[in-house]
Order: sequence, then C-alpha cells, then structure tokens
Amino acid sequence: MKIAVIYSSKTGNTKKVASAILEGVGAQAQLFSVDDEISLDEYDLIFMGFWVDKGSPDKKASEFMSKISWKKVAYFVTLGAYPDSQHAKDSLEKGIALLGEHCEIVDSFICQGAIDPKLMEWMMTLPEDHPHSPDEKRIKRWEDACNRPDSTDLLHAKEFGNNVIRAL
Ligand SMILES: Cc1cc2nc3c(=O)[nH]c(=O)nc-3n(C[C@H](O)[C@H](O)[C@H](O)COP(=O)(O)O)c2cc1C
Repeated sequence: MKIAVIYSSKTGNTKKVASAILEGVGAQAQLFSVDDEISLDEYDLIFMGFWVDKGSPDKKASEFMSKISWKKVAYFVTLGAYPDSQHAKDSLEKGIALLGEHCEIVDSFICQGAIDPKLMEWMMTLPEDHPHSPDEKRIKRWEDACNRPDSTDLLHAKEFGNNVIRAL
C-alpha cells in the first residue's frame, strides 16, 4: 500500500504534526506539502492535514482536498481551540465534506496549535462587544495553545500514524 502524508501549514504547527505522523507510519510513507507536485493516483491511503482558518479548513488544503477521490483518508487538524470542542469537531466535519467522491475516512487526529502572535496581538485590541474580544476564558485558551503542539502531542501524532497502519 502506498501512503502519502500531506499537510497545509502557515506557521509550522501542522507540518510538525505531519512529520510526527510520518515517523509513526514508517519508511513506507512519503511527506508532502499541498504546494508540492503530487501524483495522487499513486497513493492508496492519504493522511491529510489542515489548519483551521476562521472556522474552516485553510484555503490551500480546501482546494487540495476536493481533488482526493476513491482513497482511504486519515485526517489531522490543528487549531487554536481545544481538540474536544464542538468548534474542532465542526471544523473536521467541514474538511470531510470537502473531499471528492468515494473516500473512506479511516481515522482522525485533532491537536491544539499555537496561534500566530500577530493575530493574538490584534485580538487583544478588540472591543468587548466583538465576538473574538479577549475575555478570561479566551485568553486562557490562547495561553494553553501557545506551546502546542508539544512533545506529548507529537508522541500522540506518531501513535496515531502507527495505529492507522496497524488497523488496516
Ligand atoms: C488567520 C487565522 C485564523 C484562524 N482561525 C481559527 C479559528 O477559526 N479557529 C481556531 O480554533 N483557530 C484558528 N486559528 C489558529 C490556527 O488554526 C492554529 O494556530 C493552527 O495550529 C495553525 O497551523 P499552522 O501553524 O500549521 O499554520 C487561526 C489562525 C490564523 C492565523
């Protein structure tokens, strides 16, 4: 079985997770960015990774995912919100909905990722009535995200890669 680990990443979080998954999968897999030339026909299983941008998969990943058809797909996602939040689940579902025809979702992995400091700086200036204004809960969540993915997340990502292969 030929396996590709494909990611889209702006600030590096999703790329780190992709590299850890690759380690877990082993030498049989190849790592790609969505910017690379990829001949999808050659692969049977795709690990597909995106980051969440305003509640949806990022644009580059979204465009790429619509080209994936007739494959087994294992998803990985990074975002600022907590992985067990409804926001994270909804974002993953939006990614799944973007796939082309006849894909089988074999598993998924969601990981918190540090938010671009420039974006946080801007959010800190937002007025109280803005939907992203910096209230106590939100600031705590941003702080929790700021060192992620950490070594435990990357270990879990590696295990995820390994488990997907073993379950096939
Ligand atoms: C422009 C922008 C929009 C974002 N929108 C969301 C969002 O809607 N929900 C969320 O949980 N995180 C959001 N984030 C946080 C990113 O999803 C998170 O930092 C992710 O790990 C970035 O991945 P990357 O380092 O691979 O680019 C946003 C970040 C940026 C820069």
